[in-house]
Amino acid sequence: MYNEKVMEHFRCPKNMGEIPNADGIGEVGNIKCGDVMKISIKVGKHDDGKEYIDDIKFQTLGCAAAIAASSVTTELAKGKLLDEAEGITKDDINNALGKLPPVKYHCSILADEGIKKAIEDYKSRKNG
Ligand code: FES
Repeated sequence: MYNEKVMEHFRCPKNMGEIPNADGIGEVGNIKCGDVMKISIKVGKHDDGKEYIDDIKFQTLGCAAAIAASSVTTELAKGKLLDEAEGITKDDINNALGKLPPVKYHCSILADEGIKKAIEDYKSRKNG
């Protein structure tokens, strides 16, 4: 059902876990399948004042595709400027996995929502 890239991320997920004292947390879930995902980020600042994703980790309780999508999303986002990370789309995630089976496309949507929510959370904390 899954291609090798998906299986690789499922078997050896990157950046699994939780960042203590995270700057932003995004918790999302899909009511239909019951899968849940939590993405935590640590934000750093370059000398020019631009903010970037210094660290990112995920915890996912769900299907293989959701775990693979979370893992590849953390890889796509790590080190990126906040705006760039926010611009990651569900298609970027799906393409980075060499495409999920269509019935599993919503797993990439979940990861997309998770990272956006974590960045949103960071911004709202910062702006008080
Ligand atoms: Fe729903 Fe994977 S089956 S996120």
